[in-house]
Amino acid sequence: MNGIQILIVDYGSQYTLVIGRTLRELGVRNIILPPKKASEWLKNNKPKAVILSGSNWSVYDNEAPGLPESFDITGKKYFILGICYGMQLLAYKLGGTVKKPLAHREYGPAEVIVNKKHPLFRSVKEKTKVWASHGDTVTSLPKSFISIAKSEGIAAMSNKNNRVLGVQFHPEVVDTKEGKKILQNFLTLSNCKKDWDPINLIHQIQKEVFDIVNEKQNKQNIILGVSGGVDSTTLARILGPVLGKRLICVAIDTGGLRKNELAELKTNTKSAGIKNFVVISAGREFIKNIGRTIDGEEKRAKFRAVYQRIFEGQIKKHKAGFIAQGTLATDIIESGKAGKSAMIKTHHNVGLSWKVKDLHPFKNLFKYEIRELARALKLPKSVYERNPFPGPGLYLRIVGTPVSKENIELVRETDKTVNDIIKKYKIEKNISQLIVALLGVNSVGVKGDERVYGYSIAIRAVQTADFMTAKGFYFSEEVVNEITSALTKHKGIVRVFFDMTPKPPATTEFE
Ligand code: XMP
Repeated sequence: MNGIQILIVDYGSQYTLVIGRTLRELGVRNIILPPKKASEWLKNNKPKAVILSGSNWSVYDNEAPGLPESFDITGKKYFILGICYGMQLLAYKLGGTVKKPLAHREYGPAEVIVNKKHPLFRSVKEKTKVWASHGDTVTSLPKSFISIAKSEGIAAMSNKNNRVLGVQFHPEVVDTKEGKKILQNFLTLSNCKKDWDPINLIHQIQKEVFDIVNEKQNKQNIILGVSGGVDSTTLARILGPVLGKRLICVAIDTGGLRKNELAELKTNTKSAGIKNFVVISAGREFIKNIGRTIDGEEKRAKFRAVYQRIFEGQIKKHKAGFIAQGTLATDIIESGKAGKSAMIKTHHNVGLSWKVKDLHPFKNLFKYEIRELARALKLPKSVYERNPFPGPGLYLRIVGTPVSKENIELVRETDKTVNDIIKKYKIEKNISQLIVALLGVNSVGVKGDERVYGYSIAIRAVQTADFMTAKGFYFSEEVVNEITSALTKHKGIVRVFFDMTPKPPATTEFE
């Protein structure tokens, strides 16, 4: 990890990895570490800048995480940017005042007025829209600091030589309209040079995995879980050339796949040049375990258990010493496995303890970046533009009512119908992910002059780059009518709901 220019200290904000991703989009590699590890890292490395992330904590909480022990708060060794909690922590430690003036957490869009003369706000509009999400706020600045942006209070601060900076809002979130410009200004100010590009990263991943699996002249096989999605297909394409026959790709037909998914999975895996490819048909085992379950986390736990059992079986059968998966940063954050981030939902392949060593070469990357790697590897468009689909699949799309084979079949059919309509209207490019779910809300309707009592289906389409935040997609009236009409033709479906709630507060999937 030598030569990394930026350290991001992770205080558990949902957006920490988005900071990393945005800096990489700006061409700069970075490392994200929780405070304790950051302290160790700082002893052996010389970054040009350190960013302190946001957090759910208040600086006054007893257990609130502090600055890394070896951190130089004077800014002499590196430039410092505190974001939200990061700014509060800097102000608090340097003798400023942090207060809880708000009855509720300030949350959502806000407008700030910036000091355009400050290099952090070069070329930024004087009145700019930002995204805020905080309870505490800095009410008086540390000695020799100046306010460089204001909203209702102090929105940003700087010390005299512009080396220690803080912003109360989140420049990394796309809703901060000029956030990327602000981060670019910080990179310029701290003299960071471009050092991130996909081809280098591919070589780096190949080298890292090669070194691990060949340690001590190890000749064991490596199992790679594949789903036909962009992440695992790209990983297969990256690892194939360096691991050769030792790489065995395993896909599971969980019984929760969408229509035609298995065929697409085979085509995509073939496009990645994978020869050793096994499909395990396990629908019966999954439904036997998950059937009748309602609770989302319980379903996920049962899914994980069967998933792991099947993979452990394959590891044994193929005498493998490793299991690799295309787990992304998003999966790790939301499973509560990144720094101190909160558990939102347990992703099916995160945090499992395996009998062999598990490898997650994409664990610091976002979907957006994997698509770039896939493009650089010349994988087909059907791979790099493919919308994500979660490992637990349609099991997650039966909400508030027990899972059953029949319910899964109903969701599979409705998903296909809605997807066909979306393709017909050529709007699939505007949608990052489509979710069609069966809701446990039965209601009365009238069909053929007769009373019916039947199912409700929810349609949710979102737009996002990284799935950390998302906006609901609004279908046109014509599309809404066609979807509603097509779905209610099914004798059991009475109502169709459209869900445009953004993430946050909702998540992409219903559970
Ligand atoms: P949420 O619902 O957390 O979803 O906003 C973000 C992205 O992650 C996908 N997702 C999963 N993918 N295993 C996966 O492979 C899982 O357990 C899982 N849960 C959510 C979700 O479909 C969306 O793309």
